[in-house]
Amino acid sequence: MGLLDKIAKFFGIRNEEANILVVGLDNSGKTTILNQLKSDDARAMDIVPTIGFTVEKFKTKALTITAFDMSGQGRYRTLWEQYYRDCQGIIFVVDSSDKIRMVVARDELESLIKHQELANRRVPVLFFANKMDLRDSVSSVKVSSLMGLEEIRDKPWYICASNGLTGEGLHEGVEWLTEQLKSSMAAKKKK
Ligand code: GTP
Repeated sequence: MGLLDKIAKFFGIRNEEANILVVGLDNSGKTTILNQLKSDDARAMDIVPTIGFTVEKFKTKALTITAFDMSGQGRYRTLWEQYYRDCQGIIFVVDSSDKIRMVVARDELESLIKHQELANRRVPVLFFANKMDLRDSVSSVKVSSLMGLEEIRDKPWYICASNGLTGEGLHEGVEWLTEQLKSSMAAKKKK
């Protein structure tokens, strides 16, 4: 725990916290992206495919985020829905160089959006059109149309092209998500 955290804890001032789910097909770059968002000293050197899920924490300017990094492998995708109820936001990572499997990613997204724990909830969804550095990658606008994002009506969403290896595009997306989470929290407090 850093000095500021200790002082904040002593005075009872804590960054607000939010739980988010990080989903997307296997190999899309979820763990790599989360690793970039962690502080330098907490970063892992080797990224291996996720088994089941792992939990990571990182800080944005205004929030401490607990991220559930869900494995994208087919046999673990049924685990995602067990965490829908408790999440306040979602990051959906798409490999923008993998046009063939984008059809599968779109199916998974449709099931997520329609799921009873998420339907009619204003949960913000941030999409990363990841691997923008690869020659075969398509633009975020194209990813948006291949994934049918314009059909999402009951949730705020945003898409950013990203490079999980260098971190390019990640902060723009996380800033949007933080703003969304903060305004949902403020609206909840008013009730
Ligand atoms: P699962 O744990 O199987 O669900 O995979 P994941 O979505 O967590 O993917 P992971 O972060 O393990 O990354 C898969 C591979 O893609 C790794 O070899 C990463 O180095 C690579 N990768 C991630 N992001 C990028 C990117 O933006 N560009 C390129 N070129 N490679 C990337």
